[in-house]
Amino acid sequence: MDKERIEEGEWSELQRNLGATIPVYDRINRFATLGQVSKWRRMVREMLPLGRVLEIGCGPGSFAEDVEGGELVCLDPIPEMLRVAEERVNSSRSQRNDSPVEFVEGTAENLPFDNDSFDAICSLFSFRDWYDKREGLTESLRVLKPGGSIVIVDPAKVNRVHGWLGLIWMRVWVGAYARVVCGQRDHPWKWLTKTYAGFGTTKDYVSMLEEVGFGDVRARVIFPGMATIWSARVPS
Ligand SMILES: C[S@@+](CC[C@H](N)C(=O)[O-])C[C@H]1O[C@@H](n2cnc3c(N)ncnc32)[C@H](O)[C@@H]1O
Repeated sequence: MDKERIEEGEWSELQRNLGATIPVYDRINRFATLGQVSKWRRMVREMLPLGRVLEIGCGPGSFAEDVEGGELVCLDPIPEMLRVAEERVNSSRSQRNDSPVEFVEGTAENLPFDNDSFDAICSLFSFRDWYDKREGLTESLRVLKPGGSIVIVDPAKVNRVHGWLGLIWMRVWVGAYARVVCGQRDHPWKWLTKTYAGFGTTKDYVSMLEEVGFGDVRARVIFPGMATIWSARVPS
């Protein structure tokens, strides 16, 4: 695993472990981020334009549930994630009289959509898990309309020292909580630490976004330094 790729066998194991986090996903996520995750999700929602939006790696629907209005499509490679998300997201949307979300099985690296078909793409806590990040960003560029935008959120790693602190936080603090909540020593959240260790720095992905052809690339490390929001635009 490195900043660009996760090898096939490791990615399959990661996916099995992500599937196992479904029942405790939101609870551990809130704990791991000291409750900041809801604020980060709100920030992303405010950055999205109205129109057709794709969420890549929707997981159990934790972000999509609160997206109001618009036309939303949610993609994930794990059928059980999609099943849980569909029930949760579409029942919230029907209470608000919003149109139902379309749920699609697939990966970022091989998006099952036509060129120029979305106004925006977002990906929260999933980019780190893509098995080929450059390919996933190239595919995102293809399916976005000219002028369309992408917003990505994932843990921040500003430099090596910050990376070490992040690793200790996840291994010790989140690891201890996950062991208790999951009731097992070998809990699936161990993969959070593994993918963080292999993840690049905030600047690495600014360069990658620029290299695949995005413009207006920005990255903001959000208080208290746990996450980065990257944003970029397709040149018109
Ligand atoms: C930690 S969950 C994120 C859930 C949700 N987006 C949120 O805001 O909490 C990561 C999701 O990314 C998905 N994922 C992993 N690899 C992917 C890939 N190559 N393409 C698209 N999604 C992927 C996983 O199946 C998982 O459901």
